[in-house]
Amino acid sequence: MRLRFLIGVFLLSDQFASALANDAIRVSDPNRAAYRAPCDVVYISGLLLVANSKTGTISILDAESGACFSEWKVAESLAALEQCGRWLLALDPETHQMIVIGLDTERRTLDVMQRVTLPRYPQNLAVDAASGQVAVASLWSRTVTFCTLSDAGRLMIRTRTSMPFAPGRLLFTSSDRLVVADNFGGEICLLQSDSGQIRRTVEIDGHNIRGLAVNPKTSSLMVTCQTLDSRSFSTYEHVFWGVLMQNGLHSIPLVRLDAADDHHDSDSESLKTTETATYGAASATRETGKSVGVQSQYPLGTPSIGSGDPGAMVVTSNDATLVVISGTNQLAFRTASHLPFERLKTGRRPEAICLDEREEVAFVVNRFEDSMTVISLTGETPEVIGTFSLGPIRKLTTAEEGERLFYDATVSLDGWYSCHSCHTDGHTNGQLADTFGDETKGAPKKVTSLLGTADTAPWAWNGSRESLEDQVRTSLIISMQTQLSTEQLPIEPLAAFLRALPPAPSVLESAEQLAAAPTLMLAHQEFVRSGCSSCHAGNAYTTPDSVDVGLMDETGSTHFNPPSLRGVSQRGPWFHDGRATTLREVLHSGHHAPESPLTPEQVSLLEVLLKSL
Ligand code: HEC
Ligand code: HEC
Repeated sequence: MRLRFLIGVFLLSDQFASALANDAIRVSDPNRAAYRAPCDVVYISGLLLVANSKTGTISILDAESGACFSEWKVAESLAALEQCGRWLLALDPETHQMIVIGLDTERRTLDVMQRVTLPRYPQNLAVDAASGQVAVASLWSRTVTFCTLSDAGRLMIRTRTSMPFAPGRLLFTSSDRLVVADNFGGEICLLQSDSGQIRRTVEIDGHNIRGLAVNPKTSSLMVTCQTLDSRSFSTYEHVFWGVLMQNGLHSIPLVRLDAADDHHDSDSESLKTTETATYGAASATRETGKSVGVQSQYPLGTPSIGSGDPGAMVVTSNDATLVVISGTNQLAFRTASHLPFERLKTGRRPEAICLDEREEVAFVVNRFEDSMTVISLTGETPEVIGTFSLGPIRKLTTAEEGERLFYDATVSLDGWYSCHSCHTDGHTNGQLADTFGDETKGAPKKVTSLLGTADTAPWAWNGSRESLEDQVRTSLIISMQTQLSTEQLPIEPLAAFLRALPPAPSVLESAEQLAAAPTLMLAHQEFVRSGCSSCHAGNAYTTPDSVDVGLMDETGSTHFNPPSLRGVSQRGPWFHDGRATTLREVLHSGHHAPESPLTPEQVSLLEVLLKSL
């Protein structure tokens, strides 16, 4: 009896395994109209493997002719694709899985070998080919997972690291060092890859880090990011000269990044100096204890060539650097580190780039055009030699049109930045900006997260915008200094896109660490008893009036609209000016119960609640 039962289980699991192994489904017609939104590309033996984010498919193209051989459904959605040995690794942020895929280069077919569940919202992945190590950044659960992939294609999870921020881009700088960048703000962590331990956290003078690479010639880490000066205003002049927002390529010597604690270093004087190569319009360098020290900033934008949203990059072995400028549909290149950057035109929103094995051709993936731009590197300077299509695009919804515009820096004056430059991926870059949302100068406000914004009327910190459309119009005219005429303003699609953004999942829910139901209930009761729900009410935990809670801005304004508390744990620092760096500080600020300060027990309970919403 017992034996029969066991055999049954084996048979079952065997069937299950084979069902999984074959579940890369060949899409019957790779030329059907769809909206693929490609996000990543890998070159293997004359083939291009392209990950399509919205369809969860991988397209296989001939790298020479651009012919699309086939398309394979491997996931609900895809966020990243890498090669590791004989295998392809892909991330599905919807099912929270890494997918190990076998590629038959002769028959040009794909096989799913294994699906491994990871910490929630896996978004980016890095591979160290030499050691077979794989690292994955899971965004909202703020985790980096270290894995090893065997030659036979079995993935094993080794260790996990909790990050102090929502991790985005990552890169192995050697087999025992992993660099992990904040997806929204400007922090970078250096991790020891055997133990997963964080060796060091540094803050670069910027945010929105979208590209990491090592320049072998200078042995430095190169970082593409943006730098927002919160003491500047969004006026024509300040945007025009790149004073408000600079787009840059930063470079940090690897030895400096790896240096032990700065503060005990006899060199600490020189570590504090920042060499900034600028065109007169230098943005200020933030002085923090975590300052990375010797770091050069190369501005990619110059007046009339804004270069909004620099992204992925590659450095060739003969010192050429190629950087996609995602917001302005360009590729910036220089043929040697000491030369200035020049431009080439790509398709709409270039986001990923790879080289062929001889570094003679570069392939750029255009996310919002379902295409690739092909660039030859064999001539005196790089030149565009063709465009590969991934298939026809179906008719887009209004919200999808809005998404394209949200990420489009050409909407702003001279292409300096997009909505996404401040509201990174619809969330917040965590910075302050003076965009006159409150019609005053000199009182910069924390960039609001737009995730879940549909339910948070009225808009702006002081609640002065009754409709989302009204707020978007102001954002276009003032924040973006758009040069579009009033009739051309794309208000409707942008508002439709914003309405479709769900709230950010809470820190505890993402990390699968929600408190037990009775504790959550107690916390909720405390929230009501402490009077929080009189201002933070309903499903979105907000109310329409603007109230004085004892916090004044630089111009003397005291009335603010209670922010929604949905996803609040993901968007520090808090309050209109970011004065609270922890949720505990918010609760200790006294404004919420001035007569009777909260007891430590109440604070703990409320903190649990805020981290769960
Ligand atoms: C330079 C940075 C910056 C850019 C670029 C920017 N914003 Fe904002 N945005 C802000 C800041 C700061 C606030 C808060 C302003 C205030 O309330 O005083 C804000 C507020 C908003 C709000 C109100 C949210 C709420 O919950 O109250 C919306 C909606 C918005 N922005 C949409 C957009 C759109 C759409 C774009 C692009 C067309 C855009 N923003 C571009 C900085 C920016
Ligand atoms: C009288 C209305 C009122 C009450 C009561 C109230 N709040 Fe607030 N809350 C606000 C306002 C207004 C702000 C924004 C203030 C600012 O930024 O200057 C705010 C901000 C916050 C923030 C920061 C949100 C962000 O995005 O920066 C949190 C968290 C918060 N409140 C939680 C609570 C909790 C917990 C309680 C109960 C202990 C509470 N609030 C009670 C009005 C209120």
